[in-house]
Amino acid sequence: MVEKSLAVGLVYGGKSGEHEVSLQTAFAVMNAFDFSKYKIIPFYITKQGEWRKGEEMDAPFAEAGELKLENAFGGTKAAMDSLFSRLYGGPAGPDIMFPLLHGTFGEDGTIQGLFEMADMPYVGAGVLASAAGMDKGVMKKLFAQAGLPQVQYCYFSHAQWGNDRHGLIQEMEDKLGYPSFVKPANLGSSVGISKARNREELEQAVEFAFRYDLKVIVEEFVDAREIEVSVLGNEEPIASVPGEIMSSAEYYDYTAKYTDGQSEMLIPAPIDAEKAEQIRAAALHAFRSIEGCGITRADFFLRKSDGKILINEVNTMPGFTPYSMYPLLWRETGLSYAELLDRMISLGLERYERRSKLNYENI
Ligand SMILES: Nc1ncnc2c1ncn2[C@@H]1O[C@H](COP(=O)(O)OP(=O)(O)O)[C@@H](O)[C@H]1O
Ligand SMILES: [Mg+2]
Repeated sequence: MVEKSLAVGLVYGGKSGEHEVSLQTAFAVMNAFDFSKYKIIPFYITKQGEWRKGEEMDAPFAEAGELKLENAFGGTKAAMDSLFSRLYGGPAGPDIMFPLLHGTFGEDGTIQGLFEMADMPYVGAGVLASAAGMDKGVMKKLFAQAGLPQVQYCYFSHAQWGNDRHGLIQEMEDKLGYPSFVKPANLGSSVGISKARNREELEQAVEFAFRYDLKVIVEEFVDAREIEVSVLGNEEPIASVPGEIMSSAEYYDYTAKYTDGQSEMLIPAPIDAEKAEQIRAAALHAFRSIEGCGITRADFFLRKSDGKILINEVNTMPGFTPYSMYPLLWRETGLSYAELLDRMISLGLERYERRSKLNYENI
């Protein structure tokens, strides 16, 4: 007897600035799936935030032609019924949800919360780790608590900026100097980020960042190589070999990341074995510090002046096309894209199983 294939609810698109990136990823994942084991239920979220559910797919997208293309973006509005079918006993829904959304409403814990409410297993980090990994301020506090070295920074809200702009500027100048890096606390893909070389630029950069979030991080500038490590697992995570980003721009901004195709990835990173081991250990440490599960990409600065390893950030939903750093690092470490998808799904199911045995009432 053929075992029933597992229905994976693939969620992509979404209301964030990374809508298109998410679509690219979804196409790649649809084509890489092992359809002897899985089938896909497409959940497309439009830019306006409307959920659409397509028909089940049991063959790679590439072979399916235009009809499937329509399916992947059209579908019915019964998406929510399907998502909540476990609770309402509706028609068979997905066995596990696989969010391929980046940024706000995707990797910030909100959709993970929706899956929890729907009693659905899902791939990747839980609510807490997703939210913590999305908020650079909270993330930095957790790193500090875990004893992970990082750059000096200031973190303040829009209200604080309104009340004491001069005090904050003074503090930043004393603590961070120039140039400094100004970032909205809650966005990814380098959106809203700028470098400030003097007070005037600092004020402009802060105002600019406040267009994107109500909290802002300002960091000392570090002249560094950028090293990234992929982490995979739940209770016993493993770390890939490190890779290096060689940005085409002055820093790794949105254009360098997604559009100009000039940025290079060096895999494995050309660093000595001891440094590589230290960075891998720090990546696992960072994963644990945010209570990660499933997957995480940990990004580091390797300071040029003294070779010190500084954690920059973790991404709980890193770029995931077959040409992205996260899967490429695994490939180099010996895990193919299809195998990686497999592992991610198993980890999601495992986490759900373990948690479903917990009690929520007095016993
Ligand atoms: N403190 C810093 N010093 C020097 N370069 C930085 C600093 N912070 C960020 N950058 C550059 O900006 C890029 C984007 O910043 P990052 O904090 O990783 O934001 P995002 O979450 O958008 O990826 C980094 O990859 C790096 O090239
Ligand atoms: Mg980054």
